[in-house]
Amino acid sequence: MNATRRDVLKIGGLGMLGAVGGVGLPWGAGLGAKSASELDPSRMPTPFGTEFTRPPVLRPSRSIRGADGVWVDHYSVTERTGSAALVAGARTPVWGYEGLAPGPTVNTRQGRRSVFRVRNQLPRRHPSLGYEGPTSVHLHGSASLPQYDGYASDVTPSGFYKDYHYPNAQRARTLWYHDHGVHHTATNAYFGLFAQYHLHDRAETELLPQGEFDVPLTVADAMFAADGSLAYDDNSTSGLWGDVILVNGRPWPVMKVKRRVYRFRVLNASISRSYRFALDNGDPVTVVATDGGLMPRARQVGEWRHSSAERYEVLIDFRKYRPGQRVVLRNLSNRNNVDYDHTDKVMAFDVTDEPFSTRDATWNRLPQVLQTSDAMTLTEPMARRTRRLQLERKNSLWTINGKTWDDVVRSGYQDVIADPDVGDVEIWELENRSGGWFHPLHIHLVDFRILDRNGRPPFDYERGPKDVAYVGENETVRVIMRFGPHRGRYMVHCHNLPHEDHDMMTQFSVGWRPGQYDPNDPMLAAPAQVDTLG
Ligand code: C2O
Ligand code: CU
Repeated sequence: MNATRRDVLKIGGLGMLGAVGGVGLPWGAGLGAKSASELDPSRMPTPFGTEFTRPPVLRPSRSIRGADGVWVDHYSVTERTGSAALVAGARTPVWGYEGLAPGPTVNTRQGRRSVFRVRNQLPRRHPSLGYEGPTSVHLHGSASLPQYDGYASDVTPSGFYKDYHYPNAQRARTLWYHDHGVHHTATNAYFGLFAQYHLHDRAETELLPQGEFDVPLTVADAMFAADGSLAYDDNSTSGLWGDVILVNGRPWPVMKVKRRVYRFRVLNASISRSYRFALDNGDPVTVVATDGGLMPRARQVGEWRHSSAERYEVLIDFRKYRPGQRVVLRNLSNRNNVDYDHTDKVMAFDVTDEPFSTRDATWNRLPQVLQTSDAMTLTEPMARRTRRLQLERKNSLWTINGKTWDDVVRSGYQDVIADPDVGDVEIWELENRSGGWFHPLHIHLVDFRILDRNGRPPFDYERGPKDVAYVGENETVRVIMRFGPHRGRYMVHCHNLPHEDHDMMTQFSVGWRPGQYDPNDPMLAAPAQVDTLG
């Protein structure tokens, strides 16, 4: 469906957006260009006009061997205003880690811990939206202690800092760190507070391309105001649908590739939009890893549905293309997204005849058998109980079983929707009865296996450890997981961030009952400190 931004506004977002899904929008009279942006079309970015780049890699400021012999890398990032060259004749202000959108990539290995210092030097008020929004940082994909998990209400105000401790004890995977500040996650993330974090291990290093051929692809959409700044419109909290697709912060970039196998870590960092990625020539890609790392077996797919916060690692084999050929990564879109003229394209690969070393055995390898993991060995009889989470719109709020984060706040952060013990295996049925929207549901702390969707097997590309489930229109997705290793309270929420903020988020506890003393209290155990670091 194609629409102008005014169409979307006029139909009042939510109800109508739902109702028109797949049927086409009612075209209003006298509506102008097909765009969400209000920027003069001559200044708008155009597809394939810019070179692909990767975010810089963040180096530790120091690495120290801890008392237990484990290496601890100390990182420091500062949240601050920066600017990006996206539109003609203006710099677009962003909020970024180190002022960059996306922020710098972290590269680390299983078995090394990180201490991740985040300094909030953002303006106290958002310059265009005016809200006062302190931040919280979530390392998405990490089993961190609750006080380091980016609990929404555990905030770091401007002028404060917080040290987050990350165990990096899990298997290799693509994680990402992003803002999680209560009620302002969507805008904070939209304006740039997101970045990838790569955890390596031996199995993954042997099987998959590394370094130059291990490529982060962080996809996000954006829309521009008349002055070239980022515009924000979430259509009454239904979602933001930008008309420009950014990859690693560049609009529809072009990447030069050599004739070998590449690994792409595809992260959808759009706050609402979901994609259906496919190559324009119809060739399949090989999916090797999901949110929680390697799949048991590689899967070849012609296209895949990819919601906010999901990560899929795919291999693309450029050996079979001739130098000079262009391969385009397309977006075939999904129901209940709003599409514009160029949102069907993502980026392009230009095949070159540049040399590379064939001593690197991954150059022509498309491995089939990969690696299993705890989550993927869980079976239904292991489950101690089954719970149902209803994802629904109630009294103009998004809710989970009728609950919101405000209910959690009002309970003094005691209310939980589930209270498994450490080590318990449970099945959760994630139910979306509406045809008007989809919900990417994220469960913190755990990796889960998708058992089925509406009683049918998961998609091929979902047959790996996951922490976000695409709960599509009228879908019930059953997932199974083991809780642990930590005790305490963790969030569960929709990763369409305007939904999350209003207010589709609640919590569960592991090995803890309301009223009990909690040594890992997410807000009290490690609060932010005044930043006098200069
Ligand atoms: Cu990626 Cu609770 O978030
Ligand atoms: Cu949602």
